[in-house]
Amino acid sequence: MDAVILVGGFGTRLRPLTLSVPKPLLPVGNVPTVVRILAGLERAGVTRAVLALGFKPEPFLAAFPDGRCGGVELVYAVEPEPLDTAGAVAFAARHAGIASTFVVANGDILTGLDISRVIDFHRASGAEGTLHLVPVDDPSQFGVVETDATGRVLRFVEKPAPGQAAAGNVNAGTYVLETSVIDRVPVGGKLSIERTVFPEMVVSSSLFALATHDAWVDTGQPETFLAANMSAVDAVGSSVIDPSASIGAGAVIERSVVGARATIGAGARVVGSVIFPSGIVGDGAVVESGLVMGRIGAGAVARGVVVGEDGVIDAGATISGAKIPAPEGS
Ligand code: GTP
Repeated sequence: MDAVILVGGFGTRLRPLTLSVPKPLLPVGNVPTVVRILAGLERAGVTRAVLALGFKPEPFLAAFPDGRCGGVELVYAVEPEPLDTAGAVAFAARHAGIASTFVVANGDILTGLDISRVIDFHRASGAEGTLHLVPVDDPSQFGVVETDATGRVLRFVEKPAPGQAAAGNVNAGTYVLETSVIDRVPVGGKLSIERTVFPEMVVSSSLFALATHDAWVDTGQPETFLAANMSAVDAVGSSVIDPSASIGAGAVIERSVVGARATIGAGARVVGSVIFPSGIVGDGAVVESGLVMGRIGAGAVARGVVVGEDGVIDAGATISGAKIPAPEGS
């Protein structure tokens, strides 16, 4: 079976990290998010995945030099301009000549879902498209999806005001689609799958959804990206430290991820944080709940910071909750 993975967005909410690394290539527990997604697709029988690329395609080609990830063959579809989610799916599917039922995955969603459950449900209902849903307690940041008892989608309720909607099922970012969905998108058209194509399919009663209680996280914001890494750490029961990282004498690393070639200085303290590949924490520095690609100077104390590849916190500084360098417009 074929899949399309949406990996061409700008990842603005994760800037400055995404200024150098596209969101789907950011590592969770030292494994790039898209590699985790590809493993889940492979388990469900996907043998070929089309990466729907736009913003920064080169790092993806470099990450998979032999055009494969595990047992999955990769095809690269690079949009001439951002086509939004439906435009990107249609562009990628046409580029790769997808000719039968296929899976679509958002490149920033991690879930314990067994995707074959959605495929089986899709086939049994005869749907044109099937969404995976997960329940959330406060759906105010999401669109709620209402179905009938058979799973047929009745309507989408866009981002209800906080406290205005009870717990509900939300779109969890994995879809199974028939090729007729591609035909709903004009060639080269810029269109949202969530806001335009799916509501059209509701009108034709051809959209179904399957809700499950699997673990699920949208890694698209600093807090959720950090939480996804903490889940990866908790899953193995200890910090995840790449063997090529350099750890100074007396350094303490608690519930954290330390990437390849990162440096943790002598006597430094890293707690609940992600130090990315080649990130640097100076001697005696303290990092708590941080996402660090750049450099934390010796003796600095940094809490809740997001430090991009070019970011530096000066030696001895005390900083909380900052993005460094600050993204434009913030
Ligand atoms: P923000 O800028 O922070 O909103 O992130 P995003 O636009 O990168 O991601 P969003 O959550 O809005 O989109 C969901 C998925 O679709 C992500 O995996 C994006 O990479 C991808 N995506 C969004 N827009 C496009 C697009 O125009 N083309 C392609 N190929 N992918 C897209």
